Amino acid sequence: MSTSSSSESPRHPFLDGLSKHRGAPPTVVVIFGASGDLTARKLIPAVYNLGHDNLLPPEFFLIGFGRKEMGDGAFRKSCAEAAREHSRREVLDDIWERVADHTSYLAGGYDEEAAFTKLRKKIDKLEKNLDRPIQAVFYISTPPSVFKPILQNLGAAGLARRHAGTPHASKVVVEKPFGRDLASARELNEVIRREFDEQQVYRIDHYLGKETVQDLLVQRFANSIFEPIWNRRYVDCVQITVAEELGVGSRGGYYEQSGATRDMIQNHTMQLVSLTAMEPPVSLGPEAIRDEKVKLLKAIQPLNPKPGEGDAVRAQYAEGLIGGQKTTGYRNEEGVADDSSTETYAAFRLSINNWRWEGVPFYIRSGKRLARRVSEIAVQFKRPPGILFSEADRFDLAANTMVIQVQPDEGLTLLLNSKIPGLETRTQPVKMHFRYKATYGSNTPEAYERLILDAMVGDSTLFIRGDETEASWKLITPVLEAWDSLGNRGLETYAAGSWGPLTADQLLWKRHHQWRRPSL
Ligand SMILES: NC(=O)c1ccc[n+]([C@@H]2O[C@H](COP(=O)([O-])OP(=O)(O)OC[C@H]3O[C@@H](n4cnc5c(N)ncnc54)[C@H](OP(=O)(O)O)[C@@H]3O)[C@@H](O)[C@H]2O)c1
Repeated sequence: MSTSSSSESPRHPFLDGLSKHRGAPPTVVVIFGASGDLTARKLIPAVYNLGHDNLLPPEFFLIGFGRKEMGDGAFRKSCAEAAREHSRREVLDDIWERVADHTSYLAGGYDEEAAFTKLRKKIDKLEKNLDRPIQAVFYISTPPSVFKPILQNLGAAGLARRHAGTPHASKVVVEKPFGRDLASARELNEVIRREFDEQQVYRIDHYLGKETVQDLLVQRFANSIFEPIWNRRYVDCVQITVAEELGVGSRGGYYEQSGATRDMIQNHTMQLVSLTAMEPPVSLGPEAIRDEKVKLLKAIQPLNPKPGEGDAVRAQYAEGLIGGQKTTGYRNEEGVADDSSTETYAAFRLSINNWRWEGVPFYIRSGKRLARRVSEIAVQFKRPPGILFSEADRFDLAANTMVIQVQPDEGLTLLLNSKIPGLETRTQPVKMHFRYKATYGSNTPEAYERLILDAMVGDSTLFIRGDETEASWKLITPVLEAWDSLGNRGLETYAAGSWGPLTADQLLWKRHHQWRRPSL
């Protein structure tokens, strides 16, 4: 363990006088799991880019906490390498050095109370040198097995209650996964609530930090053409796809404990459902928006997990072709059991029992080794009466669809029908595209930049509230339990590079719908 005197000295206020920050008070961000993959690929580059944009508070400090023995210098070097490798922008030495000057490292065990006492003393010393209160933001970026001891030790060392009830109160950012079922999510919430008030807690779902996900609220509520038709009278169905082309790679051991439903559906996909379907909030404040999301999640009917007849399909990828290359099946991946029943694909049909959505199915799916990496929300509208354009050979017509492309190539597409130029009347579907890159340029902030800044300024709008995560788990857990008891029965396979198993198509055919084939 070591500390650095330069990191504790307020000699060089961060970006003197230049800051146009959103009002964060003096802040120390403590990252637990400082030697980890997320820290290197996302958190450190996000801090650098916030510094680059003058969005860090003038008195900003960063402390890495981990089990590995390491000096401040070695930690700063690893951070510099991470920033250079993963930042969306070129790292400029003068900006990086201002961050590095205020960066230090503390080695200790996550279950070692004495290490947290040292951490408190280190933060107290920073504050004493600065002669002003400093808020602490604790970012838990470790595997979930150590979330609980970290939270308990933050409480035991008096770090959770530092400056409680003032604008400088501590905050805790908790990474996903938040539990693995309803019982464990509740237990984790109880541990959190023993040490922190809900207003101090920032549960991450990085999808909420994505520009297009935030734009969803703007599209819905700032455009008068969409909101009047956003209901059961005009919408035929909604399809939400979160698809990956990659397989599990070297993370088979981890994935065996997770699966597509826990990894993608319970969190990211359900967030997209609630933002798409919720009622207009009374304001853009965090509680107003999160109240509406929770109401929506509670209105979703319990899912019937019965294979072949129910609302849920699960499958595993078999071998196949991705980009012309032969790929291996899931059960042959490293760290995966020969008889694994972990689903790499899951699809659900959701029924929302409220005034707006009664009778409109929401189809959601997520999987690995699918045909394309794409996350999108497609709102498919009802067809007009077929009186005028009924001859199928002349009139190629598609259902009007609004597609919000969350990633990659963020944007919005409207599928319309149009006359083909010529001397006779023939029609075909056409697409109207809005692309973020074309309109705003390609260098938009990464989700983690927005989320770290929001935690520092105390805006929890883009974070998950405790009751929200429980509402989502309440819906999903019975399905996971049913699948557990079925073992491999009802578990389908699909060829890598396809769009999933036939049974997932059949889930839609029952209601005369078809999955979209997402394309650019
Ligand atoms: N990586 C991503 O892209 C990503 C994306 C979304 C969410 N997340 C979430 O973010 C968190 C961190 O992910 P990560 O990929 O950075 O994890 P990681 O690299 O596996 O672990 C992060 C750090 O935690 C410590 N650690 C690892 N295993 C531990 C164990 N069994 N007991 C105690 N400490 C342990 C290690 O730090 P020390 O040895 O220095 O203590 C390690 O460097 C996880 O909750 C993950 O689900 C990650």
